[in-house]
Amino acid sequence: MLNISFNEATRTFHLSNIHISYIMQVEQHNILTHTYFGRKVSGYHQIAQYPEISREFEVNFAENREGDRAYSIGTQLLEFPVYGTGDFRQTACLIRHEDGTTVSDFRYVGHEIIEGTQELSQLPSVYVEDVTEAKTLIIELRDELVQLTLKLRYTIFENHPVIVRSASIENSGTQTSFIEKIASMSLDFPERQFDLIQLNGAWGRERMLERERVRTGIKLLDSKRGTSSHHQTPFIALCDSDTTEFFGEIFGAQLIYSGSHEMSVERDPFGQVRMLLGIQSTGFRWQLQPGEQFEAPEVMIAFSDKGLNGLSQANHTFIKQHIIPRRYANLERPVLINNWEGTYFDFTEQKLHAIIDEASQLGLELFVLDDGWFGTRNDDNSSLGDWHINYDKLPKGLNGLANYTHSKQMKFGLWVEPEMISQNSHLFRQHSDWAIQAPHRPLSLGRGQCVIDMSRQEVRDNIFGQLCAILDTVEIDYIKWDMNRHLSEAHSLALSAEQQGELPHRFVLGVYDLMKRITTRYPNILFESCSGGGGRFDLGILRYMPQTWTSDNTDAIARLFIQYGSSLAFPINSMAAHVSATPNHQTHRHTSLAMRAAVAFAGVFGYEMDLTELSQADKEIISRQVEYYKQHRQLIQSGIFTRLISPFGDSNECAWQFSNRDKTEHLVMYYQVLSHASYPAKKFRLRNLCANTVYRVTSEEQSFIARGDELMHIGFYIYPQFKGDFQARVYHVEAMKE
Ligand code: GLA
Repeated sequence: MLNISFNEATRTFHLSNIHISYIMQVEQHNILTHTYFGRKVSGYHQIAQYPEISREFEVNFAENREGDRAYSIGTQLLEFPVYGTGDFRQTACLIRHEDGTTVSDFRYVGHEIIEGTQELSQLPSVYVEDVTEAKTLIIELRDELVQLTLKLRYTIFENHPVIVRSASIENSGTQTSFIEKIASMSLDFPERQFDLIQLNGAWGRERMLERERVRTGIKLLDSKRGTSSHHQTPFIALCDSDTTEFFGEIFGAQLIYSGSHEMSVERDPFGQVRMLLGIQSTGFRWQLQPGEQFEAPEVMIAFSDKGLNGLSQANHTFIKQHIIPRRYANLERPVLINNWEGTYFDFTEQKLHAIIDEASQLGLELFVLDDGWFGTRNDDNSSLGDWHINYDKLPKGLNGLANYTHSKQMKFGLWVEPEMISQNSHLFRQHSDWAIQAPHRPLSLGRGQCVIDMSRQEVRDNIFGQLCAILDTVEIDYIKWDMNRHLSEAHSLALSAEQQGELPHRFVLGVYDLMKRITTRYPNILFESCSGGGGRFDLGILRYMPQTWTSDNTDAIARLFIQYGSSLAFPINSMAAHVSATPNHQTHRHTSLAMRAAVAFAGVFGYEMDLTELSQADKEIISRQVEYYKQHRQLIQSGIFTRLISPFGDSNECAWQFSNRDKTEHLVMYYQVLSHASYPAKKFRLRNLCANTVYRVTSEEQSFIARGDELMHIGFYIYPQFKGDFQARVYHVEAMKE
């Protein structure tokens, strides 16, 4: 069913599997044009040839000067629009040549179809475990004058409504060129009324889902921060304006990249829509010398004709099978206790022992020692870069603590922040030039720290050596890899003036290199990425680390939005979610322990509080919660996730459902935000059940029996009604034995 065909007569490419078709054509001038992407079609009979319309004030393509005014590159649907020859829309590629010109003109010269995927050399790439799982089309286009070759790669997979694309440029000429913009993908749609969906935010408020009508002009969404950022997840979707959670067509694209990025959607004056995703072009300038190649990151684009849920589920399945190492797909993640919100920097060995004692009593499985264990770090102003143990705080060292934790039958985890350097550190005193900085300008601080120049091999080797010294000697089961500031004065003291525009991207390549070395050397350590919470939650990092700290905001109500938004792009078992103290440290809101757990259940569950301060009653509740989560962990972490009710907009509620593959077991979570007098009697309906199966539905308050069709079509009331704000119900739905 997986097929890539090329019709020699019409010069049409057709990539298809059981879900989707992607069609493009090499037209008369050897320009690669886009025809179709969407639901699978069995064949293509050239019915969508771009019409010959003469448009005033469009530039006619060079060959056509003598007469043919009906062909303008500026209105065609293009596969990879380049700058300079008359396409005035957003460009995927701008290259400055040695003579100062910025004209590019890439024409089709050939293609190749290979089994499986083609790995990028320095960037994270999608993978297959068996080459029969995918096919890749590599189309070669050449700009003869300057001898540059553009390669466009398209990978289609056996059983996913997904295409993965990337682009690279190779200099086979004799001149040096400078790439000033290079997208990973451009996708042109014929005239269509779309809505744009984006996931934006800020620290503590990541991945807020925003939807708006695509209007004429350009909408640019980006990060110039050196990371994918809290502010703009590198994900966008276009859907028809009547698409809902369950119905309608939607196209969702996400970059497999963790640095500065830009995504634009342009609706041209003829209603055609162009979607572009790639690395950030502001400040970017890549020197491409003869013989060199530049690879742009991959981008995955998924199609669903079953609304946002279809897109979310397609993303989850694909990411678990082709991005996150597959051994994690169904691997149960331990329920953890992290000391950060419990103690912050203020801990002693004795205090940590007390927390570990309590945690093991409560059934927790992993203790994570967060920030503050190294150098002389008692606040966030020092010691980053000095990855050695603070024996004043931990007299028995990390080994002592790890052994203590293991003696309580728990795993031991540790926090690190390898990409940073504090001015107050031995490392900085020895190598101040290792901090990212612009010469003769003040060093800007963020959270009191500087970013270390990961573009430099000697820097990476130093940090690698320091991390290995710990990981080789202490039995560590889990690492939380943090990154707590963005890149300003993005300049490297080790790069030439011509290459300074490369630094932000080289920084990311350096981070990937270090992550790859560490995660390969320690395959048994579970890695969780973090960047002030969910500031670097993206597919690039997920290629190395299977889970992310979703947000520093642990407030249950804020988390409804953050987790709902995140679930559009990322799988549930990549989203860490913790129960913290009340009032919440970020929002100062009070919520019940039951509500906090009911929200954190919908992710990789854990606690982040001082367990030694709990009342006996709370301990009993927590121990039951831990038990409950463990019982249903497989279903939550590996099941099918359905978004039932969105908390966004005017909604006062939120609901989601986890189902196993054969639909015999489900967990349904319903949340009400505020309490109101004379509130409607709320009834809701489940999804994804077998119509004829009889299920038992159980919550703490209710237990009843119903068939799947009743639960899906009639639905049931949330009863008894909630009393007070911030309430949740968790229903277990299980098929009864015949
Ligand atoms: C970041 C993380 C937190 C915690 C602190 C430690 O903010 O997101 O979870 O690890 O750093 O400094």
